[in-house]
Amino acid sequence: MVTQVVSLSHGDQTVTALRPLLEIFSPRDGDRVESGTVKGGAATCPITGFTTSAASVKRQLTQQRGGAQNSRLYAVYVERNAGREFRIATPDDSTAFLRAAAAALEVLHKDPAAFPTEEINPIRPYKNSRGLSAVTRIGCINFGDLYNARQALSIHVLYGVLRRLTLDRCGLDHPFLLALKTALAFAINRGVSQNTSMSRWDASRLTIKGAFSKQALAVVWDFAEANPFSGGSADWDGAIEWVRRFIEGNCSMDRPGTTVRASATTIPLPSDSAAALVTDPPYFAAIPYADLSDFFYVWFRRGLGESYPDLFANELTEKAEELVVTNAQKGSNGQTKDDSFFRLGMAAALKSARDVVQSQGIGVIVYAEGTTAGWEAILGAKPSR
Ligand SMILES: C[S@@+](CC[C@H](N)C(=O)[O-])C[C@H]1O[C@@H](n2cnc3c(N)ncnc32)[C@H](O)[C@@H]1O
Repeated sequence: MVTQVVSLSHGDQTVTALRPLLEIFSPRDGDRVESGTVKGGAATCPITGFTTSAASVKRQLTQQRGGAQNSRLYAVYVERNAGREFRIATPDDSTAFLRAAAAALEVLHKDPAAFPTEEINPIRPYKNSRGLSAVTRIGCINFGDLYNARQALSIHVLYGVLRRLTLDRCGLDHPFLLALKTALAFAINRGVSQNTSMSRWDASRLTIKGAFSKQALAVVWDFAEANPFSGGSADWDGAIEWVRRFIEGNCSMDRPGTTVRASATTIPLPSDSAAALVTDPPYFAAIPYADLSDFFYVWFRRGLGESYPDLFANELTEKAEELVVTNAQKGSNGQTKDDSFFRLGMAAALKSARDVVQSQGIGVIVYAEGTTAGWEAILGAKPSR
């Protein structure tokens, strides 16, 4: 039995490395699946049968800022030509993790903000919408708390390679290099969602699911960590393939598009200039879009900030102008983002849309809102013309 306890720390970043007490995670009976160890937030020790109450589990996780850094590897899934197998984690697996954890601390020693230090907003956006706030209930403070050391290191290393793709090294022209780096960043960020302490193991498909099974982060009791170069689920090849399919699917367009970041309340186009307007406006209080975007933005900014300095000037995404009903954010004048804020903003957005569309043009509005309040708000947001 290996009983090693290693704690590595730098500032407030601590990695209590694995204590590979291998027997703990060995099945008692190879033919029988034991019952689960967590129910309603309470955890039962598989050895002693002692149940720790939900309140105590939460307190302990909170002391560990969510616990991702103290998580322990207990099983490994392997696909080989001959078939698939689950095996118990070995000392070699633990040593590999420890080496990654030590390398992560080296990185943080040189740059304490190498992994995302931006705070997660703990305010729950609305009664039926959690946004990112659930993980703050178990002590996660910043976005870096959502990853174990090896997960964060792997994302950091991939973005490091991306940043080193420069004109003099690649010999590509600037627009092509920028497009290439952007596409690669999408692939890396695909891995961000599939490589966190909220990434689920899909036992029916034997694959890793991303962190967003719905439009909110949810706490999971055990998570899957992908080897980015495994050739299996959630690996780098899969992420590249996903981006490739997207690009190919959109190649049929015969002319390039232009993207502008601006508020829909003041569309930066001349009056009567557009033949059509197609829009999918925000769904009232259902989804805190910008809050959720921050999950990806903090990594994009680290990898692409120098490529797009204007787009990534802010530490987090802009929220003041966002037309959603939420308790988690305020408007630009400090106003509450309530029904009235939404109606006034949508009225301005629809008026601006009407101004830029030609009189013979068309407008398409997709609104899949599920609440009466949301429908009343958008129907009541008529532009005064
Ligand atoms: C229903 S979603 C659209 C999703 C989009 N069709 C897609 O598939 O990704 C509504 C979007 O409107 C954005 N939004 C909210 N307020 C806005 C504003 N003032 N100006 C521009 N966009 C805004 C939200 O941040 C969100 O991304």
